[in-house]
Amino acid sequence: MSDTAQHEIPVRKVNLPFEGVPQHWFGDNAMQTHIFNGLNLVFPDGERFFVRAVMDHVDRIESPELRAQIKGFAGQEGWHAHEHERYFATMRAQGYRIDGFLRSFRKFVAWHTKYLPASLRLSVTAGAEHYTATLGAFALENPRMHEAHPVMRRLIAWHAIEEIEHKAVAFDVLRATNPSYALRIAGFLIATATLLGWTVAGTRMLLRQDGISKEQAKRMLRDLERRDGGKMRRAIRDGFRIYFRRDFHPNQIDDLDMAHAHLNEIAATA
Ligand SMILES: [Fe+2]
Ligand SMILES: [Fe+2]
Repeated sequence: MSDTAQHEIPVRKVNLPFEGVPQHWFGDNAMQTHIFNGLNLVFPDGERFFVRAVMDHVDRIESPELRAQIKGFAGQEGWHAHEHERYFATMRAQGYRIDGFLRSFRKFVAWHTKYLPASLRLSVTAGAEHYTATLGAFALENPRMHEAHPVMRRLIAWHAIEEIEHKAVAFDVLRATNPSYALRIAGFLIATATLLGWTVAGTRMLLRQDGISKEQAKRMLRDLERRDGGKMRRAIRDGFRIYFRRDFHPNQIDDLDMAHAHLNEIAATA
């Protein structure tokens, strides 16, 4: 695959029936469920930050192909934010108190939107998109996803496929407007700390609300990693390392065909 992706980025407006999703929807396992739920809590405001960062640079993009990709990217992310936010209603109905956390994260994002230079916000976005594509590929290829409730499996498959489809857009906009390696890495390190920090905080908050102590949580995480064979940790570590290559481009990881082989998993709701 070439460094400049030419494929179309279609917006699939799914509307998932979250109402029947049980509390511990991922293999009846609180830890496994809340790792995803924690990530879910940061998606909507995070994704709006990504779209804004890219749109702030669109006037400087001359390539019609890249401009078309930006449009697809913004449409996909807008719909992801919308759908993940709809899932919050289900979490609230299950009794989780998530609004204080959401308000704090929104303030954090607003502060960064106001005070970070536009080029750094774009670089953070390119770095975060590398993680969402890495995690997306991991989820699609993970046979244990069958333990997830079918509605949540569709949500994850849909989001993962589209993250892979648009994974190079923010990166290409950054490369076209400010190709500095130092800027790319600075944004990636901020994205790493933010994603990790807030996802862990969200996961811990939800586990606490389930009455699970810190010690129990540590044991549950160890059990989960044993069952997983450390695959998720390795996928994230490898994803982290590869981004430091000076000649790195997201399309060097050729996973679009793999992603599209999973399209049937969302077809019923698209
Ligand atoms: Fe997304
Ligand atoms: Fe994305």
